[in-house]
Amino acid sequence: MKLVIPEAKRIWDLPIRVFHWLLVSAFILAWLTQGEDRYLDIHVFAGYLILGLFLFRIGWGFWGSHYACFNSFACGWRSVWRYLTILLTPQRQHFIGHNPIGGWAILLILGLGLVVTLTGLLTLGGEEQHGPLAGLISFAWGDIGHECHEILAWLMLGLIGIHIAGVLVESRLHQENLIKAMITGYKNTSTEDTASVANHSRLAISLILVVLSSGGSYFYGYFTQTAEHPYLPFIGPQLPDNATWREVCGECHLAYHPTLLPARSWQRLLNEQHQHFEEDLDLDAETLAELRQFASDNAAETHLTEPAWQIEQTTPLNQAPLRITATAYWQEQHEEIPKQIWQHPLVKFKGHCNACHLDAEQGTFEDAAMRLPQHSDFSQLSTKPH
Ligand code: HEC
Ligand code: HEC
Repeated sequence: MKLVIPEAKRIWDLPIRVFHWLLVSAFILAWLTQGEDRYLDIHVFAGYLILGLFLFRIGWGFWGSHYACFNSFACGWRSVWRYLTILLTPQRQHFIGHNPIGGWAILLILGLGLVVTLTGLLTLGGEEQHGPLAGLISFAWGDIGHECHEILAWLMLGLIGIHIAGVLVESRLHQENLIKAMITGYKNTSTEDTASVANHSRLAISLILVVLSSGGSYFYGYFTQTAEHPYLPFIGPQLPDNATWREVCGECHLAYHPTLLPARSWQRLLNEQHQHFEEDLDLDAETLAELRQFASDNAAETHLTEPAWQIEQTTPLNQAPLRITATAYWQEQHEEIPKQIWQHPLVKFKGHCNACHLDAEQGTFEDAAMRLPQHSDFSQLSTKPH
């Protein structure tokens, strides 16, 4: 019998290794930024990165080098069963590429990952009205997408846990360091007919360049922002505007956008214009008619923004609050803000939304545009995810 000396052969080409570690980083990034709206743009970037990586991997599963190809590791349940039943015996099979269980874990992670990113797009399009699905999905569907997104992400975390456990078990059983193999690409093999696969370095470098340049352009706004013009990701779509509304209602305070109260509130407020919080607005009939029209065309019922949808959903039909700050939704969003902050000279009163929301004028009230005035009093303020 010929003695075969184990020899290091390249099993994982460079694109597979780059894909693998980019995916690990993107997944960690997505996990760290979940639930915290202020980091939504980073979370969404991680999601796009994961989606792009998965699409790349699927392509590479058909056209890639031998061990990367799906047909080299996708196998029937019978092989999985056989692999499992003799796993703890000396007859256990050793696979140079993915073993049958590992292969299934990869396919499941790919499939589940695609569904997780797609439900993420659904959440983004519905709840935030951003991304490729903006305008196509209602807030209610966005909410459902969000629930699925969270459950599926946990499932995916579970699968990744199984994958890591599998890697550790197999490393131990076969005395080979699989994690190192995913870094260097090499494994020791004594099987003579195993040949090194091509490295495809040029493709891997292109993959890295594409990721770096798309990251650069995605976050470009942060590099060019100034103190006066802070970069506000995810602002818009721009809401309908009206010059008369802005002029008349912006005289004493922020011209609150009509999306912030239901139409019945605006009608009541305009009907009672002579006793507007102890002020007399004294509007003529023509101006009044224009304001009425603009208010009812863009009231909370139009669901133009997430706050609009929330305010409309949570205000009982038999109530017509005159204050935005009296709605249940507003109170819930601001209940954690300590009393002394409202008395702070920069804030003065609750209706001074623009003291903290940089996009209050536009009426969008995006999370990324929330800034607390710079003052030591504000450092104790904790925000909660909604
Ligand atoms: C002459 C000054 C003046 C003008 C003009 C004015 N308001 Fe007001 N408005 C006030 C005052 C004063 C308050 C009460 C502020 C407080 O005590 O919190 C108020 C409060 C409000 C609030 C409640 C804010 C909250 O606490 O949620 C709304 C809504 C509002 N105004 C809408 C309008 C609209 C719409 C117009 C234009 C048609 C308008 N206001 C024009 C003086 C004015
Ligand atoms: C003292 C600062 C401050 C003022 C003034 C203020 N807010 Fe806020 N607002 C906050 C904070 C803090 C949050 C919570 C942000 C978070 O959950 O991360 C918030 C959250 C919100 C949200 C929820 C955003 C989202 O999508 O989760 C809306 C809508 C909102 N505010 C509207 C208003 C309006 C309208 C006014 C004026 C009537 C106003 N706020 C006045 C600090 C302020």
